[in-house]
Formats: sequence, structure tokens, C-alpha cells
Amino acid sequence: MEINVRGLKKYYQSEGKVIKALDDVDLTIEANKIFTLLGPSGCGKTTLLRCIVGLETPDEGEIQIGETIVWSKEKEIYVPPEKRQLGMVFQTYAIWPHMNVFNNVAYPLQNMKLPKEEIAVRVAKTLKFVQLEGFENRPSTRLSGGQQQRVALARALVAEPKVILFDEPLSNLDAKLREETRKELRQFLTELEITAVYVTHDRVEALALSDMIGVMNKGKIIELGTPRKIYFDADHQFVADFIGRSNLIPAKLLRQEKQHTIVDTPIGEIACHKRTFEKDDELVLCLRPEFINTEKPSDEHTNRVKGIIQHITFVGEVYEADVQIGEETVLVKLDPETTLVVGDELTLSMKPDHCLLVSR
Ligand SMILES: Nc1ncnc2c1ncn2[C@@H]1O[C@H](COP(=O)(O)OP(=O)(O)OP(=O)(O)O)[C@@H](O)[C@H]1O
Ligand SMILES: [Mg+2]
Repeated sequence: MEINVRGLKKYYQSEGKVIKALDDVDLTIEANKIFTLLGPSGCGKTTLLRCIVGLETPDEGEIQIGETIVWSKEKEIYVPPEKRQLGMVFQTYAIWPHMNVFNNVAYPLQNMKLPKEEIAVRVAKTLKFVQLEGFENRPSTRLSGGQQQRVALARALVAEPKVILFDEPLSNLDAKLREETRKELRQFLTELEITAVYVTHDRVEALALSDMIGVMNKGKIIELGTPRKIYFDADHQFVADFIGRSNLIPAKLLRQEKQHTIVDTPIGEIACHKRTFEKDDELVLCLRPEFINTEKPSDEHTNRVKGIIQHITFVGEVYEADVQIGEETVLVKLDPETTLVVGDELTLSMKPDHCLLVSR
């Protein structure tokens, strides 16, 4: 089911100050896709999720799930959480420790007072789906973190909701398990006909999991796009910076050429991915370290600048180096087998399509 949020506002009062947790959010979440809300801590992600679920009452606006308006200030509509047909997986206290796996998953169905036989069939089917067959009688405390998360997922899925919401469900898992569970989750969700809304402040998780990402900051949705669009071609400096490590360099528009936008920067004249701007827009050039070539440039690497290595750190897969170019310092990645050392000169080269311009 599609979710529509219109003009949603939610304010909190704290120590005499008003916090705009949601500051006029308009958002359409497409049906049967994985949509991720990505943003820094405190930007309003959980608040938005809780408003959609019905655990929080907004101050203004409207929320529609499928054909049904579930909350509207103006129309005085309020549908309680249990009637919204949503499943939710939280970050913590995801499952009940005093119950075994079967009872954890059966709980929503027992609440709906379904016949015992039907409950048994549906729990078995769901446990099979999350690959926990045979775990029915296991006390839920005797499961790995990833298995516990799958129990939580099964409990959210067993009532066959049309929409499932996740609030940072993997943040308590260690890095390796998080990666594995993320892959499984994407597979589960794409197999189901279900709309998933996923909240995280982890950019890699958002990129790996989502069909669409909404980047939030300070109670507002800043930008919407596919993972590739957000990563390669963000419209806003905040987004380009948040979704990956970027070198942000002030830029001035010089001219538009047929294929590229040419700017003047402290590291020289750079040909960029073509975009239109107003003449007086303050621009920023975003250069991701992974797109800066430090080897012999190819014909496509038409932007070339020389710099001196100021600092170099081995981080395993690569060396990270700060390269001084005039007054600017640019972070680049070097091959782990590099023989370059501090003080060496090197040429950095970039394809124009990897030089992204955004307005400040
Ligand atoms: N019950 C509350 N009372 C007062 N302020 C609140 C309350 N709940 C949230 N806030 C404030 O509203 C803002 C948004 O909070 P929210 O929990 O939605 O952020 P978040 O994006 O989920 O952050 P995180 O990534 O840390 O979970 C924050 O500034 C927070 O301090
Ligand atoms: Mg939160």
C-alpha cells in the first residue's frame, strides 16, 4: 500500500523551547518498495515513523495509508494503531525474553483471537520464511542476535501486514552480523508484496537495502532518490556529504560547455557533471575520495591537478592520504601497495562525471 504524508508537523516542548521534530513533511512512499529514511541523530526519523504507526499524534497535517486517511487534523480523523494494519520492528526490546520463539511469533495472532490450529499453521509458515524452522520451543534468550532479529521480523510479518516499519532494527548487532542480516532482510522484503519503511542513520545500510531513500535533516525531508541517484548525483550539499565522505571545495561558475559545467576552484579550473545554476549561486564541488584517480590517468580523466602528500594513514584496504593543493587539502585513497610517502608529489585526476556540483 502507498503511504502519503502531507504537511505533517510535530512539535515538542523542552525546557521552554520548541523543537520542530517534523517541520512540514510531504512524502509519498510507493507501494511494495523498500523506502529508507536516512538522517543524523535527532533529525526526526523515529517521530515520523511513530506518527505513521499512530503511536504519536502530530500537530498538523494528514497521513494516508492506501485509500484510508488514518490521521488528519483538519478532518478530525484518528485511526488507532491496531486498526492501521501495520507491522513494526523496533531497535530494542524487540522480542519478549520470557517467551519461547513460538509464543513470541504467535502473540499478534493470539491477540486477534484466531483459532489455535490457524495460529499454528501461520506461525510455522512464517518461521519457515525467516529460516527458523525447528526453533519453536527455543527460549528466545538462547538465540543469537541475528536470530532474535528474525524472530522480531517473523512477529511483525505473521499478521500479514501490508506495510512494515523498521526503526534501526540492526543497530544492536555487530558489524558482520548486521551485514548478513541486511542482505537477508532485503531478500525477504523483495519476495513479499509489502511496503517497507526503514529508518537508519547508517548510510551503507540505506544504500544496500533500499529502493528509495529519503534523506532527512532537522525535521525536513531534504532529498528523495534511488540509492544511486543519492550517491552519485545529489542535489544538496548536506546529502552529498552525509551519504559518503566528500571533499567539499568552494566553486565559482565560469561557463557552461556542451557536456560540462566549468568552475573555478582553489584547486584550479574543473570540468564537472553538467548542471544548470543561476549566475550568482554559491557552489560547492563534491569530490569523493574513491573517484579521485592517483594512478596514470586515462583519456577520460581530463581534470588533473598536482599536489603534495601531507599525511598518510594505512586503514587496511587502502591508504588514506591528505594531499595539499594550494590552500586546499584533499582526501584521496591510495593503493595499499603504494610506495608513496609524505612529501611526494602526485597527480590527481578526475572524470568530469565524477565531479559533482551542488549549490550551498
Ligand atoms: N518526547 C519528546 N519530548 C521532547 N523532545 C523530543 C521527544 N521525542 C523526540 N524529541 C526531539 O525531537 C527531535 C527528533 O527526535 P527523533 O527521535 O525523531 O530523532 P531520530 O531521527 O529518530 O534520532 P536517532 O537517530 O537518534 O534515533 C529530537 O530533537 C528529539 O530530541
Ligand atoms: Mg530514532
